[in-house]
Amino acid sequence: MTETTAKPELGTASQGYTFLVGDEIYLRTFVPGDEKNATSWRRSIFPESPELAEKWIKEDLPKEGRNNRGHLAIVRKSDDIIIGSLAFHYGTIDVTISAHVDPLYGERGQRWLAQALILAAEWQVVENHELNFMTELHTNQSIVLELLHQAGFVETARWREMLEENGQRYDRVLLSYFNADWIQRIGHPMDIEVPRSGTGAIRPIPAKVVLDGDPPANALIVGQRVYLRPEDKKDADHYIKGGRQEDEMFWHIGRPLVSQAQMEEELAEGTNEDYPGYLAWAVCIRENDEYIGTVGLNDVDYVNRTAETGPYFPYSKHRGEGYGSEAKHLLLEYAFEVLGLHMVRSLVAFPNTRSAAALCKQGYRACGRKCWEYPHEGGFGNMVTFDLLASEWRALPREDA
Ligand SMILES: CC(C)(COP(=O)(O)OP(=O)(O)OC[C@H]1O[C@@H](n2cnc3c(N)ncnc32)[C@H](O)[C@@H]1OP(=O)(O)O)[C@@H](O)C(=O)NCCC(=O)NCCS
Repeated sequence: MTETTAKPELGTASQGYTFLVGDEIYLRTFVPGDEKNATSWRRSIFPESPELAEKWIKEDLPKEGRNNRGHLAIVRKSDDIIIGSLAFHYGTIDVTISAHVDPLYGERGQRWLAQALILAAEWQVVENHELNFMTELHTNQSIVLELLHQAGFVETARWREMLEENGQRYDRVLLSYFNADWIQRIGHPMDIEVPRSGTGAIRPIPAKVVLDGDPPANALIVGQRVYLRPEDKKDADHYIKGGRQEDEMFWHIGRPLVSQAQMEEELAEGTNEDYPGYLAWAVCIRENDEYIGTVGLNDVDYVNRTAETGPYFPYSKHRGEGYGSEAKHLLLEYAFEVLGLHMVRSLVAFPNTRSAAALCKQGYRACGRKCWEYPHEGGFGNMVTFDLLASEWRALPREDA
């Protein structure tokens, strides 16, 4: 006699769960077999074979915990079909979720996505006592946004025009589901005043340089006082020395110390991919080729043409001298005119009023805050968010050549 294993009846699997079950969807971990429908739940615009998705489930997923990451499938209760996924990233004191539902489900999918986010937020914040559950969504998902607002999510930042879809641009919204016990104890982070920084007045972009002679060695773009070139292994010395001699406490969340070997490896690797997510340029003084800092683009999205900008000048003697702003405009010229980006964004810790002042004078606009990002003075610290559109940068005043 052949033994047969009875398959569970479709649409009954959620009955085996006591939590993370909503009206129309439930959340569960991924299992081999889920790869068959991976285009629905993997956030990728590129074709991915089921074999690759299977490899991710069997080999990569078990290691994700080491990177402080976790993943859950969003499953439809009525027939146990996976319609999307949630990716969790656990920070020092918060959890950030990247949420995805197959866009082919249209408005139904938005409803399911909202249910999944609300279940996950309550699980993380009410049950696991996380401080702040954050997610970023675009304004084309108006149904999700509406449902999340009704459930108590708060919009804390809005970066303009970060998504392009069907020839239209949509903003990206940062939403937080805060832990009510902590709000009661230390107050609402949206009520804290942002520290004042600088005059906020925009300064003209330094005049474009037309070279008479040869450009400095390996230069990408040359400004009045500084130029940008790719970073190399030798620049690691400055990160190390500058790090050890750091005499300012306000701009960072505690002074970091990185090893020479780690830095050399990172810098020598450079950007060896075709479409790197991180691009860094060394800032050097034209007069003597001295390395004084780095400006970079992080989280580069070549499809929607967006990125995050970030500068670092390792020695405090080179800060507050205008070099950072001059270098930033060279980076923005590269970002907007070479890479063709549409907009950039930036984040600055509240106490880093110098960096915020520099962004304002470079033409960036403050557009909200990212709350409770790191432990700070017996409570939790916040970041100011900024954005800048390519069209705004092009329209900024410029010095005469
Ligand atoms: C951020 C950084 C790249 C800015 O470059 P920079 O060359 O220092 O900037 P600039 O000199 O062009 O502009 C700084 C402005 O802030 C003002 N400023 C200086 N200290 C300030 C302070 N404590 N609060 C407010 N404004 C301050 C300066 O006066 C200047 O404005 P001004 O031109 O109107 O006088 C550089 O300071 C740096 O590397 N800091 C350490 C790393 C860092 O903070 N990285 C950014 C993380 S978000």
